[in-house]
Amino acid sequence: MSEIESPFPFGPPRPGQQLVTDAEILDACCGGRMWWWDKEHPLACYVDKRTRPAGTISQKPLWKVEPDVQADFRSLPFPDDHFQLVLFDPPHQVRSRAGTGINAEQYGSWQPGEREDALALGFAECWRVLAPGGTLVFKWAGRVTEVEETFPVTPVVGTRPRGRKEGPAWVVFYKPLAEAQEVAA
Ligand SMILES: C[S@@+](CC[C@H](N)C(=O)[O-])C[C@H]1O[C@@H](n2cnc3c(N)ncnc32)[C@H](O)[C@@H]1O
Repeated sequence: MSEIESPFPFGPPRPGQQLVTDAEILDACCGGRMWWWDKEHPLACYVDKRTRPAGTISQKPLWKVEPDVQADFRSLPFPDDHFQLVLFDPPHQVRSRAGTGINAEQYGSWQPGEREDALALGFAECWRVLAPGGTLVFKWAGRVTEVEETFPVTPVVGTRPRGRKEGPAWVVFYKPLAEAQEVAA
C-alpha cells in the first residue's frame, strides 16, 4: 500500500474508525474499476487497499487505482447492515514471490498460504456491511470450488465449474430481510 496524502473524499481511515457514507453500493476492492460501466457511479463507494497513479502501467496509460476509501477488505471501516449492494472481486493469483508484470500490477496477487484466510475475512466483512435485503456479488477468475469454503452463506445462483474450464465465475448471495427482523424482535 502506498503511503499518500489523501486526495480522496474520506481518506485512509484511522484504526477502528467507522465512516458514515450515503453510498448504497460498495466495491470492496475496486482496483481500476474496469468492470464498472460508470466508473464514477454516484451511489458507489470505491474501496481498495492501495492507490496507483495513471501511468503506472505504460501499456494502459489511463489505468489507475483511486479509491474513495483506502482500506483493507478484511477490516472494512463501515457500520453493519449498510450497503444495498456489495461487490467483491479480489485477486485470484497466488505467487511464490511478489508478483511482477501487468496482471499482477492490475489485479494483485497473494503470497502462498494467504489467500483463503484473507477471502474468508473479506467475505465476513462484506456480509457484515451488507444490508438485510441486499445482494453480494462475487467475481472469481478461477474455479469457485477452490474457494467456496470461504463463502459466508450458500449462494443463490452462480457459475459452476464445468470440466477443466476456469473462470471467470460470478456468484450471487442474498442477505434475507428476516435477519433484520430477528435482531429487532
Ligand atoms: C481483481 S482486482 C479488482 C479489479 C476490479 N474489479 C476492476 O474492475 O478493475 C483486485 C483488487 O483487490 C485489491 N486488494 C487486494 N487485497 C485487498 C485487501 N485486503 N483489501 C482491499 N483491497 C484489496 C487489489 O489492490 C486489486 O486492486
